[in-house]
Amino acid sequence: MQTHEIRERFTDHFVKAGHTAVPSASLILEDPDLLFVNAGMVPFKPYFLGQQNPPYPNGTATSIQKCVRTLDIEEVGVTTRHNTFFQMAGNFSFGAYFKEGAISHAWNLLTGSLADGGYGLDPERLWVTVYLDDDEAAEIWEKKIGVPAGRIQRLGMADNYWSMGVPGPCGPCSEIYYDRGPEHGEEGGPAVDDTRYLEIWNLVFMEKERGEGTGKDSFEIVGDLPKKNIDTGMGVERVAAILQGVDNVYETDLLRPVIDTAEQVTGAKYGAEHASDVRFRVIADHSRTGMMLILDGVTPSNEGRGYILRRLLRRIVRSARLLGATGETLERFMTVIMDTMTPSYPEIADSRERIIRVAVTEERAFLKTLESGTHRFDEAAAKTRDTGAKTFSGEEAFTLHDTYGFPIDLTLEMAAEAGLDVDVAGFEAAMGEQRARAKADNKAKKHGHADESVYREWVDNSPTQFVGFSELTADARVIGLVADGVSVTQAGAGDDVEVILDVSPMYAEAGGQLGDRGRIVTDGTVLDVTDVQKIGKRLWVHKATVLSGGLDLGQAVKVEVDPDWRHGATQAHTATHLVHAALRQVLGPTAVQAGSLNRPGYLRFDFNYTEQLTPAQLEEIALITNQAVDSNLAVNTIETSLEEAKKMGAMALFGENYGSEVRVVEIGGPFSIELCGGTHVGSSSQIGPVAVLGESSVGSGARRIEAYSGMDSFRHFSKEAALASGLAASLKSPTEELPERISQLTEKLKAAEKEIANLHRQQLAAQGGELLNQAVEAGKFTVLTHRLPDGVSGGDLRTVATDLRGRLAGKPGVVVLAAADGDKLPFIVGATKEAVELGVKSGDLVTLLSGYVDGRGGGKADMAQGSGANPAGLDAGFHAVREELAGR
Ligand code: ALA
Repeated sequence: MQTHEIRERFTDHFVKAGHTAVPSASLILEDPDLLFVNAGMVPFKPYFLGQQNPPYPNGTATSIQKCVRTLDIEEVGVTTRHNTFFQMAGNFSFGAYFKEGAISHAWNLLTGSLADGGYGLDPERLWVTVYLDDDEAAEIWEKKIGVPAGRIQRLGMADNYWSMGVPGPCGPCSEIYYDRGPEHGEEGGPAVDDTRYLEIWNLVFMEKERGEGTGKDSFEIVGDLPKKNIDTGMGVERVAAILQGVDNVYETDLLRPVIDTAEQVTGAKYGAEHASDVRFRVIADHSRTGMMLILDGVTPSNEGRGYILRRLLRRIVRSARLLGATGETLERFMTVIMDTMTPSYPEIADSRERIIRVAVTEERAFLKTLESGTHRFDEAAAKTRDTGAKTFSGEEAFTLHDTYGFPIDLTLEMAAEAGLDVDVAGFEAAMGEQRARAKADNKAKKHGHADESVYREWVDNSPTQFVGFSELTADARVIGLVADGVSVTQAGAGDDVEVILDVSPMYAEAGGQLGDRGRIVTDGTVLDVTDVQKIGKRLWVHKATVLSGGLDLGQAVKVEVDPDWRHGATQAHTATHLVHAALRQVLGPTAVQAGSLNRPGYLRFDFNYTEQLTPAQLEEIALITNQAVDSNLAVNTIETSLEEAKKMGAMALFGENYGSEVRVVEIGGPFSIELCGGTHVGSSSQIGPVAVLGESSVGSGARRIEAYSGMDSFRHFSKEAALASGLAASLKSPTEELPERISQLTEKLKAAEKEIANLHRQQLAAQGGELLNQAVEAGKFTVLTHRLPDGVSGGDLRTVATDLRGRLAGKPGVVVLAAADGDKLPFIVGATKEAVELGVKSGDLVTLLSGYVDGRGGGKADMAQGSGANPAGLDAGFHAVREELAGR
């Protein structure tokens, strides 16, 4: 049975039982604790915690969620059980059915006949586990379902108590295993052997909430959830392996074609030996994960999600090379994995070109860095050996990894070839620090709302009514006050406080548009609102400072949006939609939005695109945008279903979890249609001019356009104009002739600099004869070691050294010169033909000198250059060079 059919049967089974089918959320759903969605329940978290009511008629849902788990990337392919990407099929009950319902639903699907829509698994082969004291589940399995007691095993917290690994919903679980038969391992059930007995489905009886803690079994249970819920997860790829009668997930219809392609590309054979099999499996697994991440808008970079993607892609390239590939390979791997995945994810079809482009750009960059990284490795290895050490430093391994993209296994392998160990512990420590930094960055971005429990009651019982699409002021009541993360009953003058209101006209930050600024006032009391944030999508939190008077819980207040602020932010937001539409007209549909920011007068728009925009493209984007402003296009907002919106062609943003009801913002009919919850002007001319400032790179594969809108555009243009006329006056040239005038001046300046440099060299050369007097005899050689005045550049050093070497021609002579240039110390070694014939290698002398001045460098036998960081070691270095030559 093809994987696609396994998915369909799952959904049908649960829809028939009254569940609402919910599409998979993006892999990059915003959650400060998670880099990627890693379980089917993640998008439903607010319903389990009772922060929101589930919008499903029967309180039940089913989904097949894309998941990525990347904790053990190094383990991938070493065993055949795990994938970094997998599909978790699940059914969820929010206070509807509980243990018995979950158990019988799962059992019926697994053992139901193929004709009846089931998977037709032999019940005799199924084993189950329950949590130690969960008599209730054990009894349901035995009495209601008829599983013999001998095939029901009880396991502890590490196995049978599930949580997300962080504070959140949790509960005991019951797992279903499939016995693959004696050829796969020992008798005795999953408690004895979890290779032979393969876990296929986890049923979590979600009824508790966990607190802080580590690992799977050392955390505190802080209390009961409001309801008893069900969360289950069936491993689609594992069930596929069983139903397709193959040994493991890599042999299934989705992944095996990648391995076949890798055989063709590399010439190696799968199944020949373990080490190369691991590489084949890495290629298959990482190709799929990489493809799915790019599909959801991730691009390679050096931190967070982009870093994981970069590692995955680079590991594929490296694995393919180790298997014998010589050229580029990613396009072929991406193509075949897109082919196998498209039946289940039709949206891939629209992104094929973009996915290949992102992957291949990264591959090319990596192939280049492989070269320079190898150079860096060789140098570091030589240095290590020179000092007599046997261990390659962990710091250096980290730099290779971080800056040159060298996976640690590559460094390990190359070190072994060079006869060195690697300080893996040091490397891990450096990695750990980097991870901690990435996680802290992620959390910091969340506006300090890491612990949202203080808002729980309001989110549940009294969400804010937002009236700000039509009103800029509103009468409201203070229903909550929070200071320093704690609920309080009053705030006095000077206090910073978060104010929760029953009604608010203030826009809370979302979709790139910053929260409104404004005031909350009541008799004698004024609060300055500096930010508005949303909790659980329903509760408005106004961050404010009490300017005068005091505020009590329950008090009636008037809320006033700062109209200038709102006007500016609104102009910027509508302008962003215009820029987006213009961008897609100019660059095509592969330029996908990756993020945006709108604040009064300014906008920023990030999009996935791997090439720098040309000035002509930028100009065209600016032109289309301003023409759209000038055409006074009508702006309409429409509330509709997600499905209808997609039919209208609305562009949705990656990483957003849209509800089933969405808001569509349409500008000028088909000109721009986007899903958006922001505020917008009534017609495009109200934006005023849009001044496109330029574009830049924000990490590999993503670019940023920045622009001003409204009066800020005007201020920008008039500042530029003033600047130009100022320049025109001081250069005494009409404005339109400025470019030519400036390029003339630059030319003149360059010529003058060249002239000065020439004079300088002539002067140095004239001193050459005098310098030679300082040469000494060292064994068979005439050696001149000399430090020239500070500021002499590397290029001048070479001129002088060449001149001096020429003066020594005819005898074995060596010239060593150095000069401090800022905090660098360039130096050079030149040897006459006679010296070279006697075996002198200038490159070796550069290496020797480098050891004293903390430098590096290289070159040929007759001339080599280097640069040092420690001028204090120069005299000792000169001495060492003379000694070395004298000893020959
Ligand atoms: N949330 C459960 C899991 O991930 C079903 O195993």
